[in-house]
Amino acid sequence: MQKIHIITPLHTATKREYLPRMIEDKVACMRKAKEYEFDYWDGDRRYGYGGYRYDGRWKPVAQSLIDVYSLKNDACILDVGCGKAHLLFELGQLLPNANLIGFDISQHGLANAPEMIRDRLFRQKAQEPYPHADDHFDLVISLNALHNLELPEFKAAITEIERVGKQKYVCVESYRNEQELFNLQCWALTCESFFSEREWVWLYQQFGYTGDYEFIFFE
Ligand SMILES: C[S@@+](CC[C@H](N)C(=O)[O-])C[C@H]1O[C@@H](n2cnc3c(N)ncnc32)[C@H](O)[C@@H]1O
Repeated sequence: MQKIHIITPLHTATKREYLPRMIEDKVACMRKAKEYEFDYWDGDRRYGYGGYRYDGRWKPVAQSLIDVYSLKNDACILDVGCGKAHLLFELGQLLPNANLIGFDISQHGLANAPEMIRDRLFRQKAQEPYPHADDHFDLVISLNALHNLELPEFKAAITEIERVGKQKYVCVESYRNEQELFNLQCWALTCESFFSEREWVWLYQQFGYTGDYEFIFFE
């Protein structure tokens, strides 16, 4: 298990105004965002992404994953909480023979994934048993999805990720100091698990997770 640095540059490239979000009817926005449907992806920024369109930004992330995990052209890869599956799409462009699979709870996310990858996606909760054998995947990834689970569900999800992947990499939201905790609490609409880096690593160890991890912070 090691900490790696793959998606932080993408996260820090976006500018965020924390305080306005906290004071603009945030509870109603959180309720809407937690539906994970149209408003979360393509509605007003108050509810989530404010319009999640393909712009190629995941391509360098896909290349990093291929390099870090020595993924071959026929690699078998699962994305847990894949959303609109732009990262899987980029992996498919770079590894045309790869066996790519993704799932998510969002119907709108899956329905609006790039057409080339859509038939590789299905609807499922991260915390429910995965229909795959032990060690089935060369790599299981989960980006910015697992902090949206409460602890019992997080434990179930990380246990399944551990079981089905030979290699694994997960990224969640976290904080390193009071200011980042405050910023995260202002910004987060869907987060259920607010933990420091130390607490997340402790949880990974408690739940037997041996894969890699990254955090995004709200500086
Ligand atoms: C911040 S988005 C990240 C999406 C994608 N991984 C990405 O990086 O673009 C969080 C994702 O987690 C999904 N999600 C939330 N709770 C989930 C659950 N219990 N099971 C599966 N997916 C979930 C949401 O639908 C959404 O697609």
